[in-house]
Amino acid sequence: MTKHRIAFLNGSLRKDSLHKRLGLAITAATAGRLDIVAIEIGDLPLYNQDKDGDAAPPQYAAFREAIGGCDGLLFGSPEYNRGITGALKNAIDVGSRPYGKSVYSKKPAAVFSGSPGLTGGFGSNHALRQACVFLDVPVMQQPEAYWGMLSDQKIAADGTISDEMLGKFVAGFAHAFADWVDLIAAGRAKLAENPA
Ligand SMILES: Cc1cc2nc3c(=O)[nH]c(=O)nc-3n(C[C@H](O)[C@H](O)[C@H](O)COP(=O)(O)O)c2cc1C
Repeated sequence: MTKHRIAFLNGSLRKDSLHKRLGLAITAATAGRLDIVAIEIGDLPLYNQDKDGDAAPPQYAAFREAIGGCDGLLFGSPEYNRGITGALKNAIDVGSRPYGKSVYSKKPAAVFSGSPGLTGGFGSNHALRQACVFLDVPVMQQPEAYWGMLSDQKIAADGTISDEMLGKFVAGFAHAFADWVDLIAAGRAKLAENPA
């Protein structure tokens, strides 16, 4: 089976980000199946439609190329004020333009969110899923991942999870995502063989 390359986009720019740690845990769990690479979003200037085309900031081309070179998308989506973070929204907007040239289109994706609070970033998770509908990004439906009551004690900086229940949930999510990526890739290959 091909090892698919997956772009990990983390909505948090924080050095000690829990989502970064969860991304590392998912990367480790799927190491034999997926090649997950973290793509930097913190250096992208705010999107301005006036600068589509030649006037685009130089960081945009590198970002779009990095996403374009991947077969799938893994989103870590922290919740800021019940929505997705500004950094992640900006990255979504940058990659979605110029019009008709979105680098996200049709790439299989998964969204996870977490929070030190109880609700586990449900609001941001679903706000991102809503954007994925418009972006034509097929998002894994189940298992949903709203990991509440997160803490540095439960997940170490290298992604090692000490909480047994959380560890099992993250590993299950990671393998379901690898299955999802394989399923979409197989469907696409079949369609290419037998076009309608
Ligand atoms: C500006 C801001 C707004 C936040 N709003 C929410 C929120 O609406 N819901 C929530 O569960 N946590 C909220 N939090 C807490 C974040 O969930 C928490 O900081 C989390 O650790 C962010 O993810 P990270 O560890 O990957 O940076 C907010 C944090 C910040 C800085």
